[in-house]
Amino acid sequence: MRVLNDVTALNSWRRNQDGIGFVPTMGSLHAGHMALVNKAQQAVDTTLVSIFVNPTQFDQTSDLDSYPQDLKADLAQLEAAGVDAVFTPDSDQIYPNGYRFKITENDLSEQFCGAHRPGHFDGVLTVVMKLLQLVKPDFVLLGEKDYQQLQLIRAMIDEFFLKVKVIACATVRDSDGLALSSRNQRLSPSELNLAPMFYQTLTDDCDLESKRSRLRALGFSVEYLQVYQDRLLAAVHLGDVRLIDNVPWPGE
Ligand code: PAF
Repeated sequence: MRVLNDVTALNSWRRNQDGIGFVPTMGSLHAGHMALVNKAQQAVDTTLVSIFVNPTQFDQTSDLDSYPQDLKADLAQLEAAGVDAVFTPDSDQIYPNGYRFKITENDLSEQFCGAHRPGHFDGVLTVVMKLLQLVKPDFVLLGEKDYQQLQLIRAMIDEFFLKVKVIACATVRDSDGLALSSRNQRLSPSELNLAPMFYQTLTDDCDLESKRSRLRALGFSVEYLQVYQDRLLAAVHLGDVRLIDNVPWPGE
């Protein structure tokens, strides 16, 4: 497995590759990321994973500072999975002129997570655009857990006439239903016990108001719980950890 630390190394590796499946990540990899890798490997011969904790998508410095990172363990997992290359740039490589240019979407990005995390989706769309320009993949693999992010990236790809195809993968969950997330590592043992009730409440057969009350009674602080198209999207806080999830919503 090649570890490409900068844009020059990426460019020279890229020149000798054809079809690429690209999995963008912020590291701290779990089975959800590995499912994306696995799907990429089924679609194309060459898989590239990026690991970059993108500072522009964090609306709070404390969240960026506490974002879990373990590059050594990530590289070992990717190597064992047979990934061809890993791109691990630093901030100066991705933002050589600071945050001079950005991509802003003016509709969906202002709702749901975007309403509570100002600038978050500008940061996500900007870094994904930069990574797609650098990697020039045939496929980009994204998880449905970040449903709003997935819809925004799909729309950006269409809007800017990019040739890359999006492959979306279902959310990977623990056996108790908790959606896998790098942030779960920051939950205390008692919060980890409670966290699966988030998904269980979302899938309970009751209306939105009852779900909201049940979550509050359990000890979650509910940021939003709203229907978007055919999904129910939600974000809650447990202590200082923010969890998001989404489930199919059959409609009336
Ligand atoms: O979903 C993530 O891990 C990040 O938002 C992404 C897509 C890698 C961009 O930094």
